[in-house]
Amino acid sequence: MSRRKIIIDTDPGQDDAVAILLALASPDELDIIGITCVAGNVPLPLTQKNARIVCDVAQKTDVAIHAGCDAPMRRPLGTAEHVHGKTGLDGPDLFEPTMPLAELHAVDFIIETLRREPAGSVTLCTLGPLTNVATAFERAPDIIPKLRELVMMGGAYFEVGNITPAAEFNIYVDPEAAEIVFKSNVPLVVMPLDVTHKVLATKERVNALRALGSRVGIFTAEMLDFFERFDVAKYGSDGGPLHDPCVIAYLLKPELFQGRHINVEIETESKLTLGMTVADWWRVTDRAPNAMFMGDVDTDGFFTLLTERIARL
Ligand code: BDR
Ligand code: CA
Repeated sequence: MSRRKIIIDTDPGQDDAVAILLALASPDELDIIGITCVAGNVPLPLTQKNARIVCDVAQKTDVAIHAGCDAPMRRPLGTAEHVHGKTGLDGPDLFEPTMPLAELHAVDFIIETLRREPAGSVTLCTLGPLTNVATAFERAPDIIPKLRELVMMGGAYFEVGNITPAAEFNIYVDPEAAEIVFKSNVPLVVMPLDVTHKVLATKERVNALRALGSRVGIFTAEMLDFFERFDVAKYGSDGGPLHDPCVIAYLLKPELFQGRHINVEIETESKLTLGMTVADWWRVTDRAPNAMFMGDVDTDGFFTLLTERIARL
């Protein structure tokens, strides 16, 4: 397997942090050419700081981290401290990161990187609202055909919504950005709640990470101890869902996931269903397919992969 060049666009977030760690632990398969941060779970000053903390914890400080957009394209920012805590990374003891922030704005970094790299070589992994990416697409449409693939965590069909009854958080926060991306014709792979709600960090799985005994294993377990509270209370589920790591797991082991290549449109107007991913799962329209929309996952395979990789850090 040749190393895949990736840019991780993220709003950490405990589950974003686990996704970043999974990628950092997989240098044989993934070449992380940059991490770009966006406002989402918490405001931008915290998401960029959290991304730097995560790289510090993993002692992988040679990755450039860029701060990007601090608000959605056409709306005020909505955040999710009720899920992630005040810092966005509540759980472990946090510290001032030593890693510097790169000077270049995330949007400029995405544009410059895609213009510089050979066509079809870079994969964008998005773990938060799509503001940075859509802004780059709008400003520099020439980069769109240069992407190999965009793999995102976002949306839902059978699970419908988590931030409203109809919408998933990443899409809801910046639906106009999501619309730009879904209409862009970029090869798109989507990890919706339908998949991520099956990837539950049960006590046993979190304890297996803690039992690694390493700084990263314990840090990950402490993040997940905090993160599970909200979803366990809300859904009565057996642990919190590891949404964002599904994106990285897909790059490492695509065979863990199953889905359908279908049409997905974004609701940008209705007050009631704003940010809904209207997925034509049953193919009842003649709208052209624009996304590989995942529906199922091998959960045990996912956690075997995650634990084995976190053990490497
Ligand atoms: C998504 O929203 C955030 O809270 C998580 O980090 C994830 O990216 C799940 O809806
Ligand atoms: Ca996220």
